[in-house]
Amino acid sequence: MGLLADRVAVVTGGGDIGAAVVSALCQHGADVTVWDRHPQVLEGLPEGVAGRVVDVTSDSAIASATDAMIDARGRIDVLVNTAGILTSAAVAEMSTDRWHQTIEVNLSGVFRCCRAVVPPMIKRGSGSIVNISSTGGLRGAADHGHYCASKFGVIGLSESLALEVGQHGIRVNCICPGAVSSEMNTAMLTAMAGSNGSSYEAVEESIIGKTALRRLVEPADVANAAVFLASDLSSCITGIALPVSGGLF
Ligand SMILES: NC(=O)c1ccc[n+]([C@@H]2O[C@H](COP(=O)([O-])OP(=O)(O)OC[C@H]3O[C@@H](n4cnc5c(N)ncnc54)[C@H](O)[C@@H]3O)[C@@H](O)[C@H]2O)c1
Repeated sequence: MGLLADRVAVVTGGGDIGAAVVSALCQHGADVTVWDRHPQVLEGLPEGVAGRVVDVTSDSAIASATDAMIDARGRIDVLVNTAGILTSAAVAEMSTDRWHQTIEVNLSGVFRCCRAVVPPMIKRGSGSIVNISSTGGLRGAADHGHYCASKFGVIGLSESLALEVGQHGIRVNCICPGAVSSEMNTAMLTAMAGSNGSSYEAVEESIIGKTALRRLVEPADVANAAVFLASDLSSCITGIALPVSGGLF
């Protein structure tokens, strides 16, 4: 029996990290549904994984998707929020639209999905929510004020929700990935290289050099932490923000 046998899970965002989380949850026996804004992401899902087009900025889309899960599966045991966006801009040059868009997806999207699944979890008396924040949610980063604000916010939201729902057997935790080998990280390093006037390789080397383990994080490293936090292995752990960063200080 897997660690997540018979658990019904929703994963928002089917990108590099989301796909690894989906695969790890399935490996441990979960019945997984992915919510993503882009239909093409859902077309590439592994066999047996359900998908639904859901934009996490839409209250009505999330409410309908939650109702559909309850109708079809009877419950949601696990929610992993990975949907997110990353752009680069210095605060002094940032448009209000860019600020709002980042907060809307990365923070309000997590809020909306948590708000939707908590009532059925309370009804059942159990549940585990895993929110993907970032090491950018633990300390600021130049040109990423909007992103860091959203990720700090995810941790504050998760700690607060953990205090509200712990009495109902529901746990809420965050994972803070460092620099993950992924398209999102490639885009960030490219932007950093552009603004520093250095090469992509030099920026990547400098980030790797700041990690204790001298390596980038793999999506599977984040997925393994998600399995731990979703499963009963972490049954006495709630309200934490777990860095999965290779030791990025
Ligand atoms: N990649 C990294 O280095 C890294 C590091 C730290 C934290 N993170 C966080 O991990 C999470 C996943 O990152 P990733 O590397 O897999 O990114 P990704 O861009 O590969 O995947 C993000 C997914 O979210 C979906 N999405 C975006 N906006 C959405 C919306 N409004 N509604 C529904 N779905 C939406 C996208 O379609 C995409 O499939 C993000 O929250 C990101 O901030 C990533």
